[in-house]
Amino acid sequence: MNKGKVDVLLGLQWGDEGKGKVVDVLTPKYDVVARFQGGPNAGHTLEFEGQKYVLRSIPSGIFQGDKVNIIGNGVVLAPDLFMDEAKALEASGHELRSRLHISKKAHLIMPTHRVLDAAYEAQKGKDKVGTTGKGIGPTYTDKVSRTGLRVGDILENFEEKYAKAKARHLNIINSINLDKEQRFALNNQLTTLHKVEKKWLEGVEYLRQFPIVDSEHEINNLLKNGKSVLCEGAQGTMLDVDFGSYPFVTSSNTICAGACTGLGIGPNKIGDVYGIMKAYCTRVGAGPFPTELFDETGKKIRDLGHEYGAVTGRERRCGWIDLVALKYSIMVNGVTQLIMMKSDVLDGFDTIKACVAYKQNGQEIDYFPYNIEEGIEPVYQELPGWKTDMTKFTSEDQFPKEFNDYISFLEKQLETPIRIISIGPDRDQTIVRK
Ligand code: GDP
Ligand code: IMO
Ligand code: MG
Repeated sequence: MNKGKVDVLLGLQWGDEGKGKVVDVLTPKYDVVARFQGGPNAGHTLEFEGQKYVLRSIPSGIFQGDKVNIIGNGVVLAPDLFMDEAKALEASGHELRSRLHISKKAHLIMPTHRVLDAAYEAQKGKDKVGTTGKGIGPTYTDKVSRTGLRVGDILENFEEKYAKAKARHLNIINSINLDKEQRFALNNQLTTLHKVEKKWLEGVEYLRQFPIVDSEHEINNLLKNGKSVLCEGAQGTMLDVDFGSYPFVTSSNTICAGACTGLGIGPNKIGDVYGIMKAYCTRVGAGPFPTELFDETGKKIRDLGHEYGAVTGRERRCGWIDLVALKYSIMVNGVTQLIMMKSDVLDGFDTIKACVAYKQNGQEIDYFPYNIEEGIEPVYQELPGWKTDMTKFTSEDQFPKEFNDYISFLEKQLETPIRIISIGPDRDQTIVRK
């Protein structure tokens, strides 16, 4: 924790690294937790005291005492989904309305953005991205094309602005070239639009009950007064719109720089950058994944790691850790400390593999190339497994030699210290190294 600074915690792989769990664990050290990008495409899981929560738009610092949590300007917010999420938390006894602050400049995901998301995916056919269907791409598109609606818009003449944006979306939807079957499916979605819209407008009313703030002023004032802020990334670096496996990415900057634009803070305010990774690798949705396993080992990782999407329930694709991609992620984020999750999933393996280079068209390379879609073959180094149940460990002194060797190997390869090791989904199954 750095006083007067913003520490950033973000995913280094294709998302679902375990960001929610670690933000919850680290929150007691901070004054404020803030989300800076993404939207309800995120699913951040937390487990403690026998309860499990999945957060989509609400920051994962919400369960620790009375900490203020901020939804920053870089986030895209769906009022109906936000209402469901917040009401469920309120029903389970968590007070939100005074300490969950929402930026006026965050963009609103409209029901028609979700229809557009579906339409664009249908149009792409076999090349589809496999989005979460939450309208993320079309909402960020409107932001960049300067036609979006923002949270601050709900405070004045909202109906007029909404009607105008909706009419524009419907025009686009009707002009998209689709085959008969796809058009039929889309028309079905449009027939029920009024129902979705009713709930969405209820969500807008609900949103008004929260502090709607100029979050850039709030955060900078906090920093001026020596407070500490933890930023929670969503998705992962390999899904970053600039540096990820484009075009199979999300539509925001998931990297550390996204915290500057998504909250309105200067780069000199960034303190530590925590990069989080699994002891292996997963991906959900379409797109290249060099170390993906299609065999029994991949299935075993999926079963042991319960690798199914928190948002869509889709099977996550599983594979070995990819150090070439991780080095790239560490570079573009300026990672200062690493956090390794789900080590326990590999507890029973005889051997572990780590991708240390790629073979591209027969030639070995150790850097992350422009195109990983074709002709990439991972080069593996094999390490002995630790064959020990670590899930009840409470200190790093209990780690078996082979596991310590795995950690040292990764630290050497990645040239960055691993500071936290997670050995299970619960808040308590976390080991902070000395
Ligand atoms: P996020 O999107 O980065 O917050 O990650 P998700 O919540 O989508 O996915 C991580 C999943 O792994 C969740 O189901 C967590 O409860 C679970 N998890 C987190 N850390 C560990 C761990 O160390 N071991 C195991 N077995 N599960 C973990
Ligand atoms: P968290 O924060 C894993 C993936 C989708 C799809 C691509 C684009 O829980 O780690 P989008 O709906 O954003 O337009 O989809 O990005 N994706 C995620 N994968 N974890 C996530 O979030 C993701 N958010 C989006 O599967 O491939
Ligand atoms: Mg997730």
